[in-house]
Amino acid sequence: MTTSLSVADTSADTSRISISAHYTGYVWYKHGLSASAFVTPMGRLANALLTPVNALLKGLAGAHIDTFLLQRHQVLDHLLTELIEQEGVEQIVELAAGLSPRGYRISERYPHVTYIETDLPGMAARKAALLQQLQRPDRHRVQACNILQQDGPESLQAVLGSLDKQRKTVVISEGLVNYFPLPVIREVWSRLARELHEFPTGTYLTDLYPDFADHPSYRYVKFAQKLVGFFTRGEWPLHYPSDAAIQAGFGQDGFSKTEVHDPAAYYERLNLPRARSATLVRLIRART
Ligand SMILES: C[S@@+](CC[C@H](N)C(=O)[O-])C[C@H]1O[C@@H](n2cnc3c(N)ncnc32)[C@H](O)[C@@H]1O
Repeated sequence: MTTSLSVADTSADTSRISISAHYTGYVWYKHGLSASAFVTPMGRLANALLTPVNALLKGLAGAHIDTFLLQRHQVLDHLLTELIEQEGVEQIVELAAGLSPRGYRISERYPHVTYIETDLPGMAARKAALLQQLQRPDRHRVQACNILQQDGPESLQAVLGSLDKQRKTVVISEGLVNYFPLPVIREVWSRLARELHEFPTGTYLTDLYPDFADHPSYRYVKFAQKLVGFFTRGEWPLHYPSDAAIQAGFGQDGFSKTEVHDPAAYYERLNLPRARSATLVRLIRART
């Protein structure tokens, strides 16, 4: 069964996507970015199933799914760290945090930072139990949030409304936006931009997989797109044909300054795994 969302589907159940968090959670662990507590049996199984596919993609296209996962995760960490260290950000909300260890790492490293992890209720409950087991302080906690909800206790508005409006704030998402058709996620971005305007500075960080149709590995991208869609029983659309189109889109959605980062620019500095040809993922830092 495949599922297609429209902008009006604000109560659509997208929990089928949550399985992908088990896979990425295992990838972060496998590459030394996380701890065993964040690993699930489903994550191990998905990794075992995809290992031969990844090997094939690496041979054919010079990069596999994990190459871009690791690039996006580490560049996002870098962009977030810059905001904390150089711009005084003190509040962070992670959307669709899944089994990511970022909240743990960042809140350990910066004791003055409040870090709220959010996800759909099922995944949020799982993460909350994990954080309790790890005895996290109250400033590192979990709240349920469905990005499609326009209002109510699980809306973006409610999560951001619970924060201190005097503190510089970042909202971050990873591995989320390509699960939604562009008009659907743009409606979310517009709401988010409006909410972020209420803070002294409001910044949104996200990864995004663009539709680079002239990329030498485009047919492998289309294959990976089908694979992700198969596992999550839905679509995984690519967004925007160029960096300039990304910038223009975020401008129309209410962000006043948008940077588009190519992981290739960070290969040396962050010691990232490299793709043989041009990279396929972009990291966006959009300010209101
Ligand atoms: C690929 S995982 C990414 C997890 C984590 N950010 C990472 O990179 O490891 C996608 C996440 O999106 C969450 N998700 C799906 N639909 C959502 C929605 N409508 N609102 C918020 N989160 C959602 C899933 O539960 C899942 O944790």
